[in-house]
Amino acid sequence: MRPTFADLKPAPPDAILGLAEAFRADPRTDKISLASGVYVGESGETPVLDSVAEAERRILAAQTTKLYKPIAGDPAYTHAVRELLFGAGHPALAEGRVETLHAPGGTGALRVAADLVRRLRPASTVWLSSPTWPNHPQVFDAAGLATRTYPYLDGTGGRLDFEAMLGALATAAPGDVVVLHACCHNPTGIDPTPEQWEDIAALVDVRGLLPLLDFAYQGFGDGLPEDAVGLMTMARSGRELLVASSFSKNFALYAERVGALSIVAATRPEAHALLSHAKVAVRANYSNPPAHGGEIVASILLDPALRAQWEDEVTAMRERINGNRARFVEGLEGAGAPIDPAPLLRQRGMFSLLGLTTEQVARLRTEFGVYLVGRGRVNVAGLTSRNVGPACAAIAAVLAG
Ligand code: LMR
Repeated sequence: MRPTFADLKPAPPDAILGLAEAFRADPRTDKISLASGVYVGESGETPVLDSVAEAERRILAAQTTKLYKPIAGDPAYTHAVRELLFGAGHPALAEGRVETLHAPGGTGALRVAADLVRRLRPASTVWLSSPTWPNHPQVFDAAGLATRTYPYLDGTGGRLDFEAMLGALATAAPGDVVVLHACCHNPTGIDPTPEQWEDIAALVDVRGLLPLLDFAYQGFGDGLPEDAVGLMTMARSGRELLVASSFSKNFALYAERVGALSIVAATRPEAHALLSHAKVAVRANYSNPPAHGGEIVASILLDPALRAQWEDEVTAMRERINGNRARFVEGLEGAGAPIDPAPLLRQRGMFSLLGLTTEQVARLRTEFGVYLVGRGRVNVAGLTSRNVGPACAAIAAVLAG
């Protein structure tokens, strides 16, 4: 018998981007999308940053070729990314222990990291927080790696259950990978404190684990250097580590697919060897990175005036998100929702996790046209003065039963 796909059942829609598709197809004019993690301004649009528009003008005016980029990307880009992530004076950079490659978005960086681990340590398990970004398990599964979870939230859903997290990670085997959200944990908005980062680093050393920091929201928590506290702690003392970073959010370059994988090794030759293996993974995946997004980021980071303008734009986005969070809590309280405001106000980054049931989330969508992810992850960055009232009223209504 000739094999066919005649009996193939469709795969389920993606937990986040599938909702974006459903939202686009929803004919209701008063629908509200708070699902996908994208920043919107007061007008409800996701603007091109002024610094980005200016960089694009300069790039187009100077462009003479569309030749392939090197497998690891342009050295100007990877150098600028390293200095942004680690700070220009970081000893690991001076010692040549950090190699960076340009990846198509944070997802692309995670997949290259996963392929690298699969290539070098195929038996290792990847530990993910529970909950985590729904694409995490999928990326590591696709690379052929086993995944397990470590607990993250306490019973109230409002705090990190640090003891339970460390307890689970203490059972990880040497060489296992622990995925840590560097800041603005997705979906909870709850991050380890600086002291807790120290404890995580100590456990990583005792157990011989390989940390993989997912750094997708730098600048959206407390500030560009402030949000790197976890990375700074992990990058101390010659520890090996991987960093998957993204410029989708802090440059609003969602569609350009621009991010990076940085490899921190104990020595320069080790970093070089690891990069060579990562390049094999890149070549087998997408050959070499797309040019435009990286050129924009490098142009901005390497030009003092454009960089200052971009940093102001990041500050403005962060301040608006923090203002939205306060408006959201006020709106929920005003609508009579039985919520504890303290944990919501403590959360950082684009998201708030309400801890709703799947039925409540489904009802929000079908009855009220309000789209949230998973157990009630709200993209606070998607709130505007127009939609905050109706969104809060709908959430209060489903919470009332
Ligand atoms: C999100 O979590 O909504 C964003 O990171 C977008 C995505 O790719 O899922």
